[in-house]
Amino acid sequence: MQEATHAVLITGGCGFVGSNLALQLKRDHPGYRVITMDNLKRRGSELNLPRLKEAGVEFFHGDIRSKEDFNEIGEISVLIEAAAEPSVLSGINSTPDYVLNTNLSGTINCLAFAAKNKAQFIFLSTSRVYPIAALNQIAFTTSETRFEIAAVQNLPGISPEGINENFSLQGARSFYGSSKLASELLVQEYAEFYGLRTVINRCGVLTGPWQMGKIDQGVIVLWLAKHFWKKELSYIGFGGEGKQVRDILHIDDLYRLVSLQMVDINKYNNDIYNVGGGRGISVSLKELTALCEEITGNRIKISNVDENRPADIPIYITDNSKISSLSGWVPEIAPKQVLTDIFSWMKANESTVKQLLS
Ligand SMILES: NC(=O)c1ccc[n+]([C@@H]2O[C@H](COP(=O)([O-])OP(=O)(O)OC[C@H]3O[C@@H](n4cnc5c(N)ncnc54)[C@H](O)[C@@H]3O)[C@@H](O)[C@H]2O)c1
Repeated sequence: MQEATHAVLITGGCGFVGSNLALQLKRDHPGYRVITMDNLKRRGSELNLPRLKEAGVEFFHGDIRSKEDFNEIGEISVLIEAAAEPSVLSGINSTPDYVLNTNLSGTINCLAFAAKNKAQFIFLSTSRVYPIAALNQIAFTTSETRFEIAAVQNLPGISPEGINENFSLQGARSFYGSSKLASELLVQEYAEFYGLRTVINRCGVLTGPWQMGKIDQGVIVLWLAKHFWKKELSYIGFGGEGKQVRDILHIDDLYRLVSLQMVDINKYNNDIYNVGGGRGISVSLKELTALCEEITGNRIKISNVDENRPADIPIYITDNSKISSLSGWVPEIAPKQVLTDIFSWMKANESTVKQLLS
């Protein structure tokens, strides 16, 4: 049977997630038209331009905040919304204009364009829609290397398997998280009233090669980079011992899920799924340090800062039960392999990425 051809627009397509999805889609479906649109705001996104071009992925220099910028793209059948200001700190120490205008108004422009084209809409949301105070109320125990979610909890939507979609949405969550949550609500309105076929993936920490990691976004790459180039780091907050935990999802595992969703969108239609590495693929900073030391062969100075950063949380683990039972998808790439892949990329592109990451 001949596969359906698609014209797929990936907004933020020069960013970490967007470029990886674009390249893998084009690799697996050479007949698809794969189009990226990006304003190149994120430093390092420009490094993806030659890679996309070489693979036959189209690039439009455009800004999702501007409706007119969609005019030249032509017809599409799928829109993957991956353009964002993705820092949880954005708007906290400076005006929130950019994060709100991109993550909310920009997403509305994407929705309007998808509706006009009757295109599928795949939205990359975030675990940061869950409020900070509620996440800070999760009961946890402390082991030698990490915090663990306690067996007994007073809140709904949480178990030792992680946080599921029934977790509280009451309370503040950062401008990043609230702009994403507001967009989720509008995605659902477009689904209900314009018949848009949508899926919302609330992703935990995503990582992998070509992530331009920085302290407030892309910490796994940043941690490895500091080891690679022998710089210094700090364990910040929660006692300063590096016991805070996140699950991590390799971008290739995310791509496998998005591919499944694209070919059978009705199955996922207009629903929300927590998506992440899960309990089995999680690390504390202390454990991350041990992996980075093993992989790079370098030990660096890590200082201890007791005081918490704004909007920070001690533990986040995704409960993937809902998406896994529906799709059969489970994350496969373990932390050591994730780090090894990032290391190989860093080594192969040392001169290009050193300035950004070290
Ligand atoms: N990386 C993660 O850990 C993670 C976790 C959960 C959710 N997400 C979501 O995944 C998506 C992609 O994140 P990422 O990690 O690739 O971030 P990224 O910063 O690497 O990519 C975002 C891209 O969007 C572009 N962009 C920013 N503002 C734009 C605008 N107004 N118009 C057009 N392009 C614009 C940037 O230049 C960049 O290339 C985001 O929606 C983010 O919220 C990421």
